[in-house]
Amino acid sequence: MMSLNKHTILGVTAAIFTATAVFAGGHNASPEQKAVNARQAHMGLYSFNLGILGGMAKGDVEYNADVAMAAASDLAALATMTQANYWMPGTSSDDMESSRALPNGWTDYEDAIEKSKGLAMAAVAMKDAAGTLEGVRGAIGAVGGACGACHKVYRKPNS
Ligand code: HEC
Repeated sequence: MMSLNKHTILGVTAAIFTATAVFAGGHNASPEQKAVNARQAHMGLYSFNLGILGGMAKGDVEYNADVAMAAASDLAALATMTQANYWMPGTSSDDMESSRALPNGWTDYEDAIEKSKGLAMAAVAMKDAAGTLEGVRGAIGAVGGACGACHKVYRKPNS
């Protein structure tokens, strides 16, 4: 059994203090920065799940129905979330260095919502299809297309 000597205790205490400092840093972020972080995290989850399905569709990763259905189910859940509170006004790429969300996303709001609905529909279709490899292959183009359609108009290109 591991013995808890003085050094172990000091090490654990230091680790707890470090974790607290990181946590406090997160709390000190502005509401705007927290909103940007949240929606970029949402996008990261899209990417993670689409990556799994894309890998299988291309044949880079062996198709597995359970894995594919879980990825498609999470993608559909994400795509049907409102996301309302993290597309906060005042957080465009004109307002903040950390944001790549172009200002027209707020001025052309109706169209941006349509783009978002386009992804929701494609993701739900993927969820229904992901039980077979043919299904994934048939549904993936529309999902990727819906991501790209929005990025093309509302995401600042990488500079
Ligand atoms: C309705 C519009 C829209 C749709 C649909 C959309 N995105 Fe995005 N995406 C954006 C915008 C705007 C940004 C920039 C956000 C920012 O920097 O604040 C972004 C950023 C990203 C990023 C960068 C995140 C980061 O860490 O900075 C990734 C990755 C991404 N999207 C992946 C996807 C994938 C994959 C899909 C489809 C499954 C998708 N997006 C669908 C609008 C969209």
